Amino acid sequence: MRTFINVEDIGDLNLALAEAQEIKNDRFKYQHLGKNKTLLMIFFNNSLRTRLSTQKAAMNLGMNVIVLDVNAGAWKLETERGVIMDGDKSEHLLEAIPVMASYCDIIGVRSFAGLTDREYDYAETVLNQFIRYSGKPVFAMETATVHPLQAFADLITINEEWRMKNEECGMMDEESTAAANSSSIIPHSSFKKRPKVVLTWAPHCRALPQAVPNSFAQWMNAADVDFVITHPEGYELDPKFAGGARVEYNQMKALENADFVYAKNWSCPGVTCPDDYGKILSKDMSWTIDSAHMAVTDKGKFMHCLPVRRGLIVTDDVIEGPDSLVIPEAANREISCSVVLKRMLESNL
Ligand code: CP
Repeated sequence: MRTFINVEDIGDLNLALAEAQEIKNDRFKYQHLGKNKTLLMIFFNNSLRTRLSTQKAAMNLGMNVIVLDVNAGAWKLETERGVIMDGDKSEHLLEAIPVMASYCDIIGVRSFAGLTDREYDYAETVLNQFIRYSGKPVFAMETATVHPLQAFADLITINEEWRMKNEECGMMDEESTAAANSSSIIPHSSFKKRPKVVLTWAPHCRALPQAVPNSFAQWMNAADVDFVITHPEGYELDPKFAGGARVEYNQMKALENADFVYAKNWSCPGVTCPDDYGKILSKDMSWTIDSAHMAVTDKGKFMHCLPVRRGLIVTDDVIEGPDSLVIPEAANREISCSVVLKRMLESNL
């Protein structure tokens, strides 16, 4: 694996899930792979989970880790070509990238969307410069349009929970029960029902990027689930990510019988009206996920990538309740990243 950006980069999802389970059973099984190899993590933006889980995954694989916070202690980096650098940016990314690459074997990049120039953001300009000029395997740690480590962790979490729910309800056929007993991964198609997964927009006080919902949509479209997206009009995700997913503008209708409710805010993706790109079009608090929303689901599980603003996205009782998966999702970030780093170590170094 040379890059990890889109769901296609991971290949067969059932194999990836099986590999995740294998690593979860023994996190240090592949410690030999990273010996004398160095991961460089570059952050243009803040992080808690990505920073810690990626570092932990690399350490599990025996790697050394260097972390660079571009906005805290490094020279400020210019990312655009053709500019006269007479402002506060002392170094250009095009020199910085090969220099940084000379110190490492794999590079992780966090660089959020600016939300002012759709074309620049959706071209993944910064990420692609790392791919082009580093000569090293590069993975997205949330970039302008994608957050694949989060989406993979979310898929792992859904798979684990769905298997548990099916075991508890006796909804597994004989073949699935046998597979479960041998601890192998079970495709959702072998259960009597596919999980209904709903991605729902929820209100927020600030304009947020579309990276998380983009990747979640892309991964759910590729997974064996019944996937529905719900949001107010104007928040349509880019078709590159939303694909053929069903969009239901009535949130309560979308949530009916849902097994998983994935809440997230995002700003206007600018699909139907490019001038609105990055804007907040709605702050409708009736979209906040509370117990009334969860009541119409099929004992649905609540999901969010974190960090989350309580009272806007979700109420205290829902996120603290027994059906909240936010902590297992975050924990599975270590696992999703371990699979990605393992594959990069195996295939490129
Ligand atoms: N979910 C996620 O990526 O968290 P951080 O922004 O804290 O890394």
